[in-house]
Amino acid sequence: MAGPSYDLLIRGGRVVDGTGAAPRQADVAVSEGRIAAVGQIEGAARREIDASGLAVAPGFIDVHCHDDIALLNTPILDFKTAQGVTTLVCGNCGLGATPANEQFEQFYARGTEGVLGPVREFTWRSHQEFYDTVRAAGPAANAAFLAAHGTIRIVAMGLERGPPDDTQLAAMKDHVREAMDAGALGLSTGLIYLPGAFSQTEELIELARVVAEYGGLYVSHIRNEGAGLLDAVGEAIRIGEEAGVPVQISHHKASGRANFGLTAQSLPLIDEARARGVEVTMDVYPYTAASTALVAIARGGRLAAEMDPHDVLVASVKHQHEYEGKRLDEIAAMMDLPVEDATRRLLREEENAVVAVMFVMDEGDVQRVLQHPHCMIGSDGLPSPTGKPHPRLYGTFPRVLGRYVRDEGLLSLEEGVRRMTSLPAQTFGLAERGEVREGYWADLVVFDPDAIADTGTYEDPRQYPLGISHVLVNGQLVVEDAKPKHVPAGQVLARA
Ligand code: CU
Ligand code: ZN
Repeated sequence: MAGPSYDLLIRGGRVVDGTGAAPRQADVAVSEGRIAAVGQIEGAARREIDASGLAVAPGFIDVHCHDDIALLNTPILDFKTAQGVTTLVCGNCGLGATPANEQFEQFYARGTEGVLGPVREFTWRSHQEFYDTVRAAGPAANAAFLAAHGTIRIVAMGLERGPPDDTQLAAMKDHVREAMDAGALGLSTGLIYLPGAFSQTEELIELARVVAEYGGLYVSHIRNEGAGLLDAVGEAIRIGEEAGVPVQISHHKASGRANFGLTAQSLPLIDEARARGVEVTMDVYPYTAASTALVAIARGGRLAAEMDPHDVLVASVKHQHEYEGKRLDEIAAMMDLPVEDATRRLLREEENAVVAVMFVMDEGDVQRVLQHPHCMIGSDGLPSPTGKPHPRLYGTFPRVLGRYVRDEGLLSLEEGVRRMTSLPAQTFGLAERGEVREGYWADLVVFDPDAIADTGTYEDPRQYPLGISHVLVNGQLVVEDAKPKHVPAGQVLARA
């Protein structure tokens, strides 16, 4: 007898359900955007996918995204959906596209544009207006947002260095409140960037208190990831403890040769805080190279003090594309200038819109952080429309599942998937996502655990991964037979 009829049936796969439970053989039925049934399913469907020999998992949640403007400019988001990512948490590192005013628009054009991408027109002023703009753009993946401290600070007080006065602090709190009312998940900071670097701990505690009222979380690119790592982790924990919010430490790492191994001391600080009842979690990307705006590492002498110019690769620029893919020492030779002068000239001529890739981490630290049970995965991908972006933009999730789960055996398959699905959903407050469970939204990925692999390199980073055949966002196929396509399937997600 024919059973019920579904929109779509994924037959014969091994379900890795996101909770960390062992994989089990089951069919998955989808109807009206949701998971309608999991188990041995008798019914029929308008469409069937044969998943025999393949894994069926919840869609991956990328907790560290900078796709705020990519959602508008390239709503297909192929670099993410091809990885199996179905939800993007944007607004990280204190760097957002909203709120906006004239001063922020100018600031954006002078540097942020190189990282987040060009904005055709700032048609929004508030968080709510920006989220509506994203919704109207029809992205292929779900998007959720953090209120970005740096952006809010510029809108409230420009690039003033000192602490905010009472009026300015009140204005910042109002912006955080407006974001949280509009559905933001929490507040992000980027304390090596301007203007985040100007802020003192007290200011951040005050703003995090607003987030606490809403049950959101505090997410931080901490003040120092090099020699000052332990103090910077301590500051993040203090903010969480005093404001009463959970803390997420972004892209946890130890940067610079002299600091290799330092995560062996930072992780115990996190464990101690957790033992005291502070909810501290973290994310990591599975590479030993970092990437950020060159201006951020040139400022304050970090580049000169901590890095060998040969370890710094120019990924993308605005005008002189011949520098893309070149190391700083090579560029200095091309310009016939000492490295420091060449860096200054490059930044001036490129209007600060230079993104760099820095080979500054130790594999041992990456693996140690990845193995921590409270660590999730965040790509920190910078969706530059030009140049050679860090390969994490295209390869983060398949690299974890291929290289670290299958090849190195650092995590079991079900544990690796948990760190990409239910752990981030619970930590960031995304309801009815992150598990293959009846009634949950049908964000799903079908992949071959034996074949999954990232394929991009630093020289040639724009490469789709292998082994991911189908991806569904809210029940709609956005990747079919390993080919991403643009379907406006994504929703703007609000904090649960
Ligand atoms: Cu970031
Ligand atoms: Zn960051």
